[in-house]
Amino acid sequence: MSRLWNLTEFGFHADRVNHYETLFTVGNGYLGTRGSFEEGHPDSIAATLVNGVYDHADGMLVPELANFPNWIPFAITVDGTPFKVVTSTTDLMKPPEGVIFGYERTLDLKEGILRRAVLFRAASGNVVRVIFERFASLSDVHVMAQRVIITAVDGAPEIAIRAGVHGNSMNATALHWNDDVQVISTDEEIGIGATTRQSGYSMGVAARLTGPHPATASATGLILDLETRFSLEQEQTVTFDKLVGIFSSRDTDENPLDAARAKALRASEIGYDALRAAHVAEWAKYWDTADIVIEGDDECQLAIRFTTYHVLIASPRHDENVSVPAKTLSGFGYKGHVFWDTELFTLPLTTLTHPSIARNLLMYRYHRLEGARHKAKANGYEGAMYPWESTDTGEETTPQWSDVQPDGSRIRIWTGDNEQHISTDITYAIQQYWRFTGDDDFYTRYGAEIVLDTAVFWGSRAEEKNGRYELSQQIGPDEYHENIDNSVFVNRMVVWHLSTALNALSWLRAHAPADAARLTSQLDLTEARLAKWQDIIQRMYIPFDAEKGIHVQFPGFFDMEFIPVPKYQPRVTSVQAILSHARSIQTQVIKQADVVMLMALLGESVGAPGGADVKTVMRNNWDTYFPRCDHGSSLSPAMHAWVAARLGLLDEAYDQFHHAAHIDLADNKGNVRDGIHAAACGGVWQAVVFGFAGLHIADNGALALDARLPAHWRQISFSVNYRGEIKRFTVTNPR
Ligand code: BGC
Repeated sequence: MSRLWNLTEFGFHADRVNHYETLFTVGNGYLGTRGSFEEGHPDSIAATLVNGVYDHADGMLVPELANFPNWIPFAITVDGTPFKVVTSTTDLMKPPEGVIFGYERTLDLKEGILRRAVLFRAASGNVVRVIFERFASLSDVHVMAQRVIITAVDGAPEIAIRAGVHGNSMNATALHWNDDVQVISTDEEIGIGATTRQSGYSMGVAARLTGPHPATASATGLILDLETRFSLEQEQTVTFDKLVGIFSSRDTDENPLDAARAKALRASEIGYDALRAAHVAEWAKYWDTADIVIEGDDECQLAIRFTTYHVLIASPRHDENVSVPAKTLSGFGYKGHVFWDTELFTLPLTTLTHPSIARNLLMYRYHRLEGARHKAKANGYEGAMYPWESTDTGEETTPQWSDVQPDGSRIRIWTGDNEQHISTDITYAIQQYWRFTGDDDFYTRYGAEIVLDTAVFWGSRAEEKNGRYELSQQIGPDEYHENIDNSVFVNRMVVWHLSTALNALSWLRAHAPADAARLTSQLDLTEARLAKWQDIIQRMYIPFDAEKGIHVQFPGFFDMEFIPVPKYQPRVTSVQAILSHARSIQTQVIKQADVVMLMALLGESVGAPGGADVKTVMRNNWDTYFPRCDHGSSLSPAMHAWVAARLGLLDEAYDQFHHAAHIDLADNKGNVRDGIHAAACGGVWQAVVFGFAGLHIADNGALALDARLPAHWRQISFSVNYRGEIKRFTVTNPR
């Protein structure tokens, strides 16, 4: 049923221009282009972000992805009336210049194509239908394609069109391009080349127009257009195709503008229809393994296709030097920086359905080991300590200060200093990738080095005091409580990490002795160091309340003020925003899954100190922490859904799942204009596969399920690439 693949905006929503621009982003892992209108709109935030092209502009605290020239402009006038979806209704004395009778915009998730159809009457009275179509080619990521079909529905209008590449794009507050721009403007092609100001990347964007009427070029500064005029007879249709090439110096040794021009020429020789067919065929391969079919819940069916689509268009296909920005390539939020969101939230989807993409993402971290070593050294530690926020260089790029707050102050951001669990999150993703793919080549050559050198970091970081090992000044997933001592999430995950590292070394010694020897000498894995890891594993402090049978988020947590989070309803903001930053720090309000996240990652192997029953402890943990969580982070609901499903709390699991799946669609956080919440999207996939379906690798090495479906789901189906073989699962609800 195609409606379960189509996200539709029926009728123009003037108050949601930026929201829809984000939702309707097209992309191919190389770039993302927001769903802005071809003719523009006064509220528009148009952007094309090419992954990896970061620049640190003067006056900015940190680097960000640079906004590329806008390749989508396509202006139309009908008998001199500009085609646009805003009519001049504010001035009632002035008749509207043009009238929109109908408007429908659809993102076809199956084919990765954005379409918009509009019925428009010009001031002359003549009526046209305009259909716009665009895609970012998945079969050739350097090709963007746009088609515009104009039909004279009533009357015989005079039409003028202007198809452009506009080089005046800025980010929210910074211009990243130098002034010495290269411009190509002939009647055959238009193109722009420029270089970023600080980082020195160059780029090129070039376009060609094909259609029934020859065009002439016009250039006003960086506004380059190909334009033509013609008249239509009643019911006559014309079709124009704009084919665009795009390159940066990250991906070609040629001048990027020359490469873009050659690509646009080649694309126009191939033609729109053939390009689209190739693109759609690639999408079919994506969905063959990535699609999850939910029977009995059309709303969530569409939502999970939407979230999966956004993970796929943000994940690099051909590049092991970029990752998935926290807001994907669909907006300026978080400046295109990469967080743990990639490894623990979006990456599992690709590990289990398109492992070559997951490998690229892990290689991104491998290639940035030097940055992580540098950070460790600069902080007085050994080994590799990954940055909390990462860009192209691999250095720490978390800003130290927030943007200016309403009262004019700035808040110190500590995550770059103390949210250190990122190194373990990366190791977790490597282990998961290795277990599901069996890619020993990756593990022995690259993955193990990360696992071991980040373990070296923790070995030097753990503090031996009070007769045990402790970790002070940490930030766990719950960022409301900063710089705390002995986060149970961090301490327990470090134990997991060090055990994993010891096992990795034993495995290497048995199966890849040359690599074991290489890494032992390169990373200085002396017997004394390994013995210390063993000691930390045994004597790490795991905060636990034996009386209540719960893990304690950190000592002192329960001494703070208790605020029943559920009483703050209805709300679209976090409870932190209601209480203020300063007050909420002193309360038990939690930003996101923290102990619950630990249970998601480790399952029952989270263990229970002192011989307590782990199942009971997990349930107690849930009952304790769920009512304290305000889900101030979009990362939270999907993890809660996963854990609730494992605990058999299916109503709570479904509520959390539904919330997570609609974070962007319903703008549950009120900030979708800044970009898609990548981690929430990846979390939704995991909530189904690991949560409701209970997929795991059984003791005998085979994949196994332990399904618990929401009552109204009749059936779910999904696929997993397990060690090179596609396994297809269908679970029918026994209820
Ligand atoms: C969350 C982090 C997350 C970051 C980027 C923050 O609000 O607390 O866990 O990594 O957003 O999405």
